[in-house]
Amino acid sequence: MQAVIAQHLTYSYLSEENKNRAIDDVSFQVREGEFLAILGHNGCGKTTLARHLNALLFPQKGELVVAGLDALANANIWKIRKACGMVFQNPDNQFVSSVVDEDLSFGLRNFGISEEEIPGRVKWALETVGMAGYEKQSTHFLSGGQKQRIAIAGVLAVEPDILIFDEVTSMLDPEGRRDVLNTMGRLRDNGKTIIMISHYIEEAVMADRIVLLHDGKILGIGTPREILPDLELLSRTGLTPPMAVKAYYDLKEAGIELSGCPLTKEELVEKLCQLR
Ligand SMILES: Nc1ncnc2c1ncn2[C@@H]1O[C@H](COP(=O)(O)OP(=O)(O)O)[C@@H](O)[C@H]1O
Ligand SMILES: [Mg+2]
Repeated sequence: MQAVIAQHLTYSYLSEENKNRAIDDVSFQVREGEFLAILGHNGCGKTTLARHLNALLFPQKGELVVAGLDALANANIWKIRKACGMVFQNPDNQFVSSVVDEDLSFGLRNFGISEEEIPGRVKWALETVGMAGYEKQSTHFLSGGQKQRIAIAGVLAVEPDILIFDEVTSMLDPEGRRDVLNTMGRLRDNGKTIIMISHYIEEAVMADRIVLLHDGKILGIGTPREILPDLELLSRTGLTPPMAVKAYYDLKEAGIELSGCPLTKEELVEKLCQLR
């Protein structure tokens, strides 16, 4: 089954300063268990699209089905929010309580989870994101990466089928980024559908497929191997290609041909070693 079916989604905020379409005739599908990356520069409509997927915005035009639920039906709003959880960019804006387990419990109560079930879910979610033992910690003393993992645990505890990560690594240091990306990979391995929004192109390498968004429109959908070596396509979206891809083309121009285009630093090193 498909986790998301979006057809011709279009949305305008209709504010005085912005009458343009934030997303414009967007159609795509996400398979259950798929890891999809949505890439595009600032203001291209990524967050607007994400907010549709977890029923924070109601579709103005087009059709949307999330986890088998029709997003155009008012009665499905809370079911969709439960089935499709979202983690946001700023780790500091996602807590209602300053104590880790109280924060997670609050979120669960909001979704009507019974008191008996809450401690077990909190424990499981913290273990899953590698933050077991932090139950009584104050969120103020956590690093950015730890805060994001707690925010992920909060979403995970509701047991959604789909998780959306909206630029969750953009405010983190390299270590925090690595921990959060590893957590996403682990959730994928546990069978969750992952939608990762980013403007760091290097992060999309781990995805099954990439959706390229530009000025509210989809410019391309494909596997990382199809999308990331396509310099012409990337330049139209204003995204810088991954370092390894750029090196591949620079070497080619200098007359050095590698055996295929690498996507990561590790692949580049491997292919360079093959030259000798
Ligand atoms: N609440 C809002 N009111 C008016 N315009 C908005 C609002 N949120 C976003 N926009 C506009 O919609 C477009 C898409 O924004 P957004 O979805 O936030 O893009 P991204 O997440 O890719 O940076 C931008 O032009 C932005 O200025
Ligand atoms: Mg955004």
